[in-house]
Amino acid sequence: MRICTVVGARPQFIKAAVVSRALRSAGVQEAIVHTGQHYDAAMSRIFFEELEIPEPHIDLGVGSGSHAVQTGEMMIRLEAFLSDEPRYDLVLVYGDTNSTLAAALVAAKLNLPLAHIEAGLRSFNRTMPEEVNRIVTDRLSDLLFCPSRLAADNLRREGIAEGVFVTGDVMYDAVLHFRARATERYSLESLVPFDSGAYYLATIHRAENTEYPDRLAKLLVLFGALDRPVVWPVHPRTTRRMEQLGFTFPSNVHPLEPKGYLEMLVLLSGARRVLTDSGGLQKEAYWLERPCVTLRAETEWTETLERGWNRVADVDPNRILTALRSEPEGPTLPVYGDGRASERIAATLAGAGGE
Ligand code: UD1
Repeated sequence: MRICTVVGARPQFIKAAVVSRALRSAGVQEAIVHTGQHYDAAMSRIFFEELEIPEPHIDLGVGSGSHAVQTGEMMIRLEAFLSDEPRYDLVLVYGDTNSTLAAALVAAKLNLPLAHIEAGLRSFNRTMPEEVNRIVTDRLSDLLFCPSRLAADNLRREGIAEGVFVTGDVMYDAVLHFRARATERYSLESLVPFDSGAYYLATIHRAENTEYPDRLAKLLVLFGALDRPVVWPVHPRTTRRMEQLGFTFPSNVHPLEPKGYLEMLVLLSGARRVLTDSGGLQKEAYWLERPCVTLRAETEWTETLERGWNRVADVDPNRILTALRSEPEGPTLPVYGDGRASERIAATLAGAGGE
């Protein structure tokens, strides 16, 4: 069984770290293709190093561009790569980025079987580029690995029932696997000058927040009015927008360079509350039992809303403040599997080669 895995953006590196290890244990041969969607060292290299992800077979070096330019360029280079190589048995993709979509389309056109990890997630908001990427990728996939039963239900409603496996979320596997390494390597004091619980951790990178000046401005004003310091590792997209718009950080906000996965786990564990528009961070906050406020109109990860561990507040100051002051209504529940999703996926993929 020879698999070609296509990754390109930060959250995909984290997922690939645990799945690649499980694939090796299952005896599956894997070549990793990096599309180059994320190319800054802090957005890419650090993840390969810290999480011991095998070196990519090739970096397609696509970089930034409009959706069509980025996706199209990835398709052109990926098609050339896959056509040159001895035929792979399967193409494996993760999540909902333009790298995911490009690889799914190329695999489908080359008649290569396609497997999608994190299948079935829906925000039901098609103005999000990620939602379009998910719908198309799931439609084209032969094997669909869902993090939860709800995700599989979403697929069934779209008429996709075959090849669907509820495995749990590989990001939970990653938290369990790397948690101890994170605290061994980084102390909270080395990352921020605050005690545990003294600060809020914020991240903002979604187009719906960065591309609309009024939304970004609202968030900055609100952060500036908060009762605690806000620690904010800033995504390059957001930095660029802040510069373009001439926006500055309020004095209680501490912008940091983008952080690696291990540092983020430490920052998360110490935060009083998390304010984010990231999907991954909502779940990581849940698993590390840090209450989260989601700065979006909706979430795909509805299980995290149980008992108030995550509250959707959009960019509405009143909703955000109310959410920040609320306490969870009981312990977290076991959602998104048992930490062995990658093992299950690897076993299924190893078996798929024999069919
Ligand atoms: C992408 C994904 C998003 C995911 C996120 C994780 C899509 C449509 N979106 O969003 O779903 O949650 O990754 O981070 O695929 N940039 C740099 N250096 C980098 C990478 C990006 O400067 O290493 C800047 C560029 O100015 C670029 C902008 O960030 O134009 C946006 O990057 P892009 O990869 O297109 O989307 P993300 O916002 O990162």
